[in-house]
Amino acid sequence: MPEPVLSVRDLVKHFPVTRGVLFKRAIGQVKAVDGVSFDLMPGETLGVVGESGCGKSTLAQVLMCLEPPTSGEARFEGRPMFGLKGSAMRSLRRDLQIVLQDPYTSLNPRMTVGDIVGEPFEIHPEVAPAGSRAARVRELLDVVGLNPEHANRYPHQFSGGQRQRIGIARALALRPKVIVCDEPVSALDVSIQAQVMNLLGRLQREFGLAYVFIAHDLSVVRHLSDRVAVMYLGKFVEVGTEDQIYAHPTHPYTQALLSSVPVADPELRGRREVIRLTGDVPSPIDPPSGCRFRTRCWKAQDVCATEEPPLVERLGHLSACHFAEERSVVPG
Ligand SMILES: Nc1ncnc2c1ncn2[C@@H]1O[C@H](COP(=O)(O)OP(=O)(O)O)[C@@H](O)[C@H]1O
Ligand code: SF4
Ligand SMILES: [Mg+2]
Repeated sequence: MPEPVLSVRDLVKHFPVTRGVLFKRAIGQVKAVDGVSFDLMPGETLGVVGESGCGKSTLAQVLMCLEPPTSGEARFEGRPMFGLKGSAMRSLRRDLQIVLQDPYTSLNPRMTVGDIVGEPFEIHPEVAPAGSRAARVRELLDVVGLNPEHANRYPHQFSGGQRQRIGIARALALRPKVIVCDEPVSALDVSIQAQVMNLLGRLQREFGLAYVFIAHDLSVVRHLSDRVAVMYLGKFVEVGTEDQIYAHPTHPYTQALLSSVPVADPELRGRREVIRLTGDVPSPIDPPSGCRFRTRCWKAQDVCATEEPPLVERLGHLSACHFAEERSVVPG
């Protein structure tokens, strides 16, 4: 049995809510990530899906060690990740890279694309000795489907999809083992989305990459993901293989999300069940007691308000619902 490349246990990230200017007083906590656990195997893709504000980006930031966790543990190839310093931190940064949603704001507009893609070599000269860098940058641009002749151009001279390829080339520069993708295609047109997703799939096969792939829509992650985790108010509520999540979902929230996924085939679209969620997402400062989904759940019973349903195996895969039952929402 291979070891997970990334192993996360009970990860919590709370942000203090303060009032006052001179004398800041904590008046509460935003429970952005509230007890997330998973293993990621080498070369695997875990899709993480949930509505805006459910804690996806916070999870990504903590996994990238850009924000310290409030509590919990994460291991990279068996070694603890949090609180690393010096060369241990630098070596983790080589292995673990991120691709962000908006390539434009994450690319320095005053740097050429060649300098942007080659910048990681400044911090990690051991990966590409000075004399070989230009050639490495050209190779990286080629690998992501950009013209290596364009290394001297600036980000604004590229389209949105091409800028996302630049961000991917930079993430690849140090030959990482894991890339956290935080909604990398959400800002792109649907046709461009497919191209970037295909590129990520090809790079994964070529380089043996593992992805944590974040999206707010179940349809985006479907074909790339080996497993999908559905997230609601800081917690994973259902985790399973593509088939388990899309064809045999057991958590009402997953079923509701699936019912709003775009279906291209008009005949299948007509046979899909429509589940409309009522009510807003509750505040992560004061989440509902028991099951966090209960204020929007059509199946909620008394026990849902008093007992939090643990994420455990129910009907063949992980689901955090006291009344988990299969309901296939999307036909075919
Ligand atoms: N630095 C921060 N300080 C306080 N609250 C934050 C901070 N970052 C995120 N949040 C809050 O945490 C929750 C989760 O946010 P986020 O992780 O960005 O969600 P998502 O990426 O799923 O849209 C939101 O309520 C957001 O307002
Ligand atoms: S535990 Fe209760 S409220 Fe939560 S999803 Fe299941 S039925 Fe709905
Ligand atoms: Mg986000």
